[in-house]
Amino acid sequence: TLDEGMYNMCQYQGFWFRPLVLDRILSLQANFNPKELGLDVLICSAPKTGFTWLKSLCFAISTRNNFDEFTSPLHNYLPHDIIPCLELDFDQDNNQQIYYPLLSTHLPYISLPETIKLSTNCKIVYICRDPKDTFASLWHFMNKIGINQPTDICFQRFCDGKTGWGPYWDHVLGYWEASIEMPEKILFLKYEDLKNDTMFHVRKIAEFIGKPFAIEEETEGLVEKITKFCSFENMSNLEVNKSNEQRRIGPYEINNSAFFRNGNVGDWKNLLTVEMIEKIDEITGKKMTASGLEGALMR
Ligand code: A3P
Repeated sequence: TLDEGMYNMCQYQGFWFRPLVLDRILSLQANFNPKELGLDVLICSAPKTGFTWLKSLCFAISTRNNFDEFTSPLHNYLPHDIIPCLELDFDQDNNQQIYYPLLSTHLPYISLPETIKLSTNCKIVYICRDPKDTFASLWHFMNKIGINQPTDICFQRFCDGKTGWGPYWDHVLGYWEASIEMPEKILFLKYEDLKNDTMFHVRKIAEFIGKPFAIEEETEGLVEKITKFCSFENMSNLEVNKSNEQRRIGPYEINNSAFFRNGNVGDWKNLLTVEMIEKIDEITGKKMTASGLEGALMR
């Protein structure tokens, strides 16, 4: 185990977790049954790579909400309250009902319950992001929730892989490799690509999860409606997402608004020093060389 300063972390299957999270993982690995729950889609990512956004998009695509009538749960609930995270707020021991056939997780691919990997019904949608932006987002988030670590110490831990669910690079690689092996099972997305052409990816996700848009839906502009509704500009301005309503994640009380900062690509330029940029790009280069992902992750 590692004393992380704020809390202890333990290493399991090559990744670092808080002890309580690890307990949940072990329990999920032993008991989780996606079939019993009727689970269709598992949304996966490392922390701070677009989890909240991807949840909104998958939810909107899957439920085909009519945003014109303000009836979508996305109007009134934080995406994390609509789609629980397996190891953080999903209580399988109490046979928690799921309201939609969607769940989410930060678990690395290697740690997913075998039942999910083997299930032919449950699809996986994964999102990753440039490690520099992921780190910048993580550092700001930690500050917002009251973990005030100096940037250089937090950076060193991120580079060493010793942040929750880290090492980040191995997390990305695990899903990347699995997605190449099983393209019909795992859709691998990048935050930057999604930002660049969201509508293209909304259609792609819809097709992947078996709910392509019908001609009438295309005609009525549903893809654009979903894209606009789930955009950072709209989501971050909804009352529920601006609010100081708090949720507990492990030992932390987190305001809803902490999940929305600025949603920009390349904001790391405002945080990282030249040395930091060189170091993080070097790690990305080394870790990703063989995967073909290097260029895609470094911008
Ligand atoms: P920044 O801190 O760079 O702004 P996660 O949801 O995985 O915790 O990631 C949080 C990051 O996603 C934050 O990035 C946040 O601003 C951004 N984000 C949240 N909602 C978004 C949306 N609807 N569209 C684009 N980015 C979004």
